[in-house]
Amino acid sequence: MTASLPVEALRAAVGDDHVLLEADLTASYESDWTGRFHGRAGCVVRPRSTAEVAAVLTACAAAGAPVVVQGGNTGLVGGAVPAGGEVLLSLTRLDELGPVDVAAGQVTAGAGVTLAALQKHARASGLDFGVDLAARDSATVGGLVATNAGGIRVLRYGSMRAQLLGAEAVMADGSVVSRMAGLLKDGTGYDLVSLLCGSEGTLGVVTAVRLKLVPRLASRAVALLAMPDADAAIAVLPGLRERLPHLSAAELLFAPGLALVRKHGHLPAPFPVEHPVYLLVECADRLDPTDALVDAVGEAEGLLDATVATDSAGQRALWAYREQHTESISAEGVPVKLDVSVPTGRLPELIARLESTVSGAAPDARLIVFGHVNEGNLHVNVLDAGDLGEVVTEAVLRLVAELEGSISSEHGVGRAKAEWLSLSRSATEIAAMRAIKTALDPAGLLNPGVLLTREP
Ligand code: MLT
Ligand code: ZN
Repeated sequence: MTASLPVEALRAAVGDDHVLLEADLTASYESDWTGRFHGRAGCVVRPRSTAEVAAVLTACAAAGAPVVVQGGNTGLVGGAVPAGGEVLLSLTRLDELGPVDVAAGQVTAGAGVTLAALQKHARASGLDFGVDLAARDSATVGGLVATNAGGIRVLRYGSMRAQLLGAEAVMADGSVVSRMAGLLKDGTGYDLVSLLCGSEGTLGVVTAVRLKLVPRLASRAVALLAMPDADAAIAVLPGLRERLPHLSAAELLFAPGLALVRKHGHLPAPFPVEHPVYLLVECADRLDPTDALVDAVGEAEGLLDATVATDSAGQRALWAYREQHTESISAEGVPVKLDVSVPTGRLPELIARLESTVSGAAPDARLIVFGHVNEGNLHVNVLDAGDLGEVVTEAVLRLVAELEGSISSEHGVGRAKAEWLSLSRSATEIAAMRAIKTALDPAGLLNPGVLLTREP
């Protein structure tokens, strides 16, 4: 496929130094974070502006060269690494941040801006960004938009789509769409910006976005609750939500995951004895929310133990039990990572049936589960599945479908789950999605095989 790459046109578009062909230069772009998905890129192209992205896509369209789009390469579903031979379009150089518009509570960010840089920028103006997640230092705005990322504050602020007021994007033919005025109301027909969010780079390449910012709430309190089982932890949540209007996170952890985090992070035990299930909750406000949190935790039915952190070092230490799950799981081996959600009323049943579902598919596998309990979103990680990874995937996704859930809650569908899309989407919906894809990318050059399988 290398022969059909428009290398000279790409060099003219971005400069010789930013078209990478040698294997030692392209290698870091060709494997995903987990090590599960990889493929050779025809070349890696690194534009630094929307105009350069437009020139790259124009060249690729003329040559019929497929393109894979990548941001910080923190994706977990194989949606941003090559399958083999594509032009890998890296957006990390699109890292410009506009001035914070404090009056409007908005900012413009390039697709390559990291989440951490965006947060720091907003906080310097007394505001904050509503989405947060553990991969903040590497994950980029473009990737967050492409996957409609969620993370740990969805309970309070919603997912990425809810923060998005506008976008600039390059379409498959190289034309540019720009809706960056930050309008809070706009009833002029189809919402292309919203459509691009969650489209996983299959409809256009988002190069910049206009984002909503939220008030900076510097006063925080974090509690870790030890619970006898998942049902009890889930049952506590509605009461916490009702009593704590400033609740900003609720995360579910289990003993096996915490043990891995302690092992790899060399962390002390949070309690004198191990407990089966833990609920990590955070409140954020302008006034100190500690007393309200302590009172609400004290009322939690079934509570076995609890610890509350009021200073930032203590809060970081409690969050480490949650945020180090991803690294600790990967330190044990290459996991099968499934990111699913079910209606919250069905979460107890999903949890109750996961162990037997996984062991039925892969008897030697180890199951590590954690997740965002308020959204019914579990991260199902399966270690030691050997060559039964696809069997486990199918078994878990079928269980989720039976419970009327989604096979992809916040990581995207990518290549990992494309063949199972019909478990969460009807034939009519998939036909509509294919029709939109064909209308916007008739030659099928953008992220082929991602989200929608290649047509037979
Ligand atoms: C998380 O919530 O930590 C992320 O979605 C990453 C993961 O699932 O491993
Ligand atoms: Zn998550």
